[in-house]
Amino acid sequence: MKTQVAIIGAGPSGLLLGQLLHNAGIDTVIIERQTPEYVLGRIRAGVLEQGMVDLLRQAGVNRRMDAEGLVHGGFELAFDGRRVHIDLKTLTGGKSVMIYGQTEVTRDLMAAREAAGARTIYAADNVRPHGMKTDAPWLTYEKDGQTHRLDCDYIAGCDGFHGVARQSIPAESLKVFERVYPFGWLGILADTPPVSEELVYANHERGFALCSMRSPTRTRYYVQVPADEKVEDWSDARFWDELKARLPDSLARNLVTGPSIEKSIAPLRSFVVEPMQYGRMFLVGDAAHIVPPTGAKGLNLAASDVSTLFDILRKVYREGRSELLEQYSRICLRRVWKAERFSWWMTSILHRFPDTDAFSQRLQQTELEYFVGSEAGRRTIAENYVGLPYEAIE
Ligand code: APR
Ligand code: PHB
Repeated sequence: MKTQVAIIGAGPSGLLLGQLLHNAGIDTVIIERQTPEYVLGRIRAGVLEQGMVDLLRQAGVNRRMDAEGLVHGGFELAFDGRRVHIDLKTLTGGKSVMIYGQTEVTRDLMAAREAAGARTIYAADNVRPHGMKTDAPWLTYEKDGQTHRLDCDYIAGCDGFHGVARQSIPAESLKVFERVYPFGWLGILADTPPVSEELVYANHERGFALCSMRSPTRTRYYVQVPADEKVEDWSDARFWDELKARLPDSLARNLVTGPSIEKSIAPLRSFVVEPMQYGRMFLVGDAAHIVPPTGAKGLNLAASDVSTLFDILRKVYREGRSELLEQYSRICLRRVWKAERFSWWMTSILHRFPDTDAFSQRLQQTELEYFVGSEAGRRTIAENYVGLPYEAIE
């Protein structure tokens, strides 16, 4: 089999890149390890920056998002018994975020790809990239007991943090930057009305808590837990009690509880590899970088990588601008590191760290107070939260 761009992974990165390329008349094949049902069973984040919303519109995959997504013009920071509103719209000259679950984005992208008749091979085993440093790379994979070969011009490694693309690059060609945080997030999904119209990020002496949502009838809540915590030790009742204890009274009073539909613990990590390319293979999204979820940047960074790679590949195919290929990593990393910084900072000011002494606790609280007490501080938070601009490819 032959294609122009071989994409490893049918997560949001691979599917969105595939859709944009397909619309531009560039042929793609996606090779995914899991089944579509498995991919759609993963519960992930749900805050889309304006840039990602625009990109989904550009891809023509926006009908349901625009009908069902919730536009949020602000969010709240809660600490010290106070609730502070961060007015995204006013602080950023009219920008906002869209609340629309990653699972729904993925579902819409899968449907669009199927409607377009573009090829996706699901449940493919042992996917391997080859010849990345040559002009004619290829993938091999196993399906139904047979080994297949997919020849291509370029490979997009959209296969997430545990994928094969990054692991196929010789270690001496990559530099890894990493921080693992000494806690995780225990999250639950429930069919209950949200406690507040906007998201609430809470700093509390018992630990961080987040009130989020997927729709007016479905909520997503999180509490910080120690890294080695077991989800089996958390009954729904224990979760709700702990969440209430970490919220200001005015919110805790209004919290509607109910049975969880999903409950899981996610570790928190910051991770970047440089460069994000190796010959004709490009790393996109979680394959190249991970952020802790505190700034809601993971999915949005995947979208900006996709936008950059798409713009470059389109110019390469249409205008023969092959000199742009070597700029991919540099362009992406500038924005990646800014989002890494913001996610690390939001994590640092909102969580309890095991080694926090009285001095650093006061500093943390003062930093929060300083930022929310100054318009410049609130604007800094707001402009990062709605998403920094994408770099134009000239
Ligand atoms: N071969 C083929 N497919 C693979 C392989 C492999 N060896 N390894 C992983 N995959 C697939 C996974 O099954 C998954 O469907 O690649 C896909 C990667 O998807 P994601 O992990 O969702 O990564 P990405 O598409 O970059 O999405 C961005 O941002 O908010 C974060 O973690 C969140 O998933 C989100 C990510
Ligand atoms: C979520 O809704 O899952 C969510 C929202 C905001 C975050 C992280 C996760 O910062």
